[in-house]
Amino acid sequence: MSKLQLRYFPDEVLKQQAKKISSFDASTRKLAQDMLDTMYENDGVGLAAPQVGISKRLMVIDVAGEDEKRKPIVFINPVIVHKEGELVGLEGCLSFPGVYFEVKRANKIVVRYQNVQGRDQKLEAEGNLLCRAIQHEIDHLEGELFIDKAVNNLVRDLEMTKHGFAEGDVEQLQDKIAATTVHTITTKQSQQQPVVG
Ligand code: NI
Repeated sequence: MSKLQLRYFPDEVLKQQAKKISSFDASTRKLAQDMLDTMYENDGVGLAAPQVGISKRLMVIDVAGEDEKRKPIVFINPVIVHKEGELVGLEGCLSFPGVYFEVKRANKIVVRYQNVQGRDQKLEAEGNLLCRAIQHEIDHLEGELFIDKAVNNLVRDLEMTKHGFAEGDVEQLQDKIAATTVHTITTKQSQQQPVVG
């Protein structure tokens, strides 16, 4: 088992578009396994290669619950070929420890990708943790981050400031949020387990 070093915001590698993988050799398999080990070690649901400093189109996801058997999926060169609907849910990111806020995603997706053997795969996900995790991780491969998809930018700024990822005045942000936010649970998804990927 080998653990890789996580990269944290604002590391430059997180903003780069990752390169397509064309060789499905032992080094690709080792990277996938090391990424899974690193994800499990950090209690993540997903991890993309740029988050360990490797700008390649590889990501791993496992949405199995704590007392379930592990169900790792390795996605190489993933592409979303269909998306529909809207899904709002709480997300975190291993590159922003401690930061959580609501993010809007598609409710249903179809993704095509290759597995570690290089075989073409297709997967559908709808309205669940897997659906959101795939979208979160594919964004990482594009150099896009969840901070640009917050449902409420003030809540995001408060979370970023509280955890040392942004400059700001926590009390001032809290006052602004209190003045502008209607305090309702926005969707039924809000009570579910957040994605951390
Ligand atoms: Ni992430």
